[in-house]
Amino acid sequence: MNTQYWINHYEANTRLNDTMKLPAGPCELPDAIREPIARSLAVFQLGESGGGTRLKRYAKVIAPLAQFSGYQRAIDLFVAEEQSHAALLARLITYLNQPQLHKQWTNSIFRWARNLVNLEFNIQILLTAELVAEVYFGLLYLRCTDPAVKQVSHKLLRDEMKHLEFQRQFLAERLQDFTPTTRRLWCLQFRLIHRFVSAVVSWDHRDCLKAIEISPAAFRSRCTQSLERFMDRLETKITKASSEGLSVQPVLHA
Ligand SMILES: [Fe+2]
Ligand SMILES: [Fe+2]
Repeated sequence: MNTQYWINHYEANTRLNDTMKLPAGPCELPDAIREPIARSLAVFQLGESGGGTRLKRYAKVIAPLAQFSGYQRAIDLFVAEEQSHAALLARLITYLNQPQLHKQWTNSIFRWARNLVNLEFNIQILLTAELVAEVYFGLLYLRCTDPAVKQVSHKLLRDEMKHLEFQRQFLAERLQDFTPTTRRLWCLQFRLIHRFVSAVVSWDHRDCLKAIEISPAAFRSRCTQSLERFMDRLETKITKASSEGLSVQPVLHA
């Protein structure tokens, strides 16, 4: 895994979130649209605000392996970027006149579920949440007319797409040594986790989805499409790396 590429990427990109200027308020969305969107964004803000303790612990275990040298530093920067998302979303929900949350049920469920099995499982839950977030921010960007929501959603969408590529390269390295049967089993359980996460999010954020005129079923269907794109690219990367007998290299323009 070319961890230096990711270190360079995060070092350059994260500061753009910290320095981003939002349009001056006040928000002109009608309350019936603004309130559900703001409440929903507050939940995502809470989800982005973790300290990444377990992820960093996992990176420490993995980093000594030859193909993951530098992974620990990349993970530190990745966690810092997620925290910059939390800060950016905090500014956005203030603009939307919504208080921040300190506790919320889906966030508590995800935190609980992430600790159910082991650290590797923890990363899978995180990854499925990123796949769902990609769909969510993409829809907000396309369908919300407010300029600040559009601007932040667009940046978060782009960042999450890069995070997915980062995770995909990591997983490709991990999975290329699996037997075809073990890999199929891994894909099956990953799809189940993803289905669970997208079902919970589509239910919890149904008012926001309604405000941007997307049904929970349509949201879940887009989440499934996004998952299948991810899995296809993952499989391609694993097959290519295995056939070449090489480590997986970064896709610079994914
Ligand atoms: Fe994020
Ligand atoms: Fe992310």
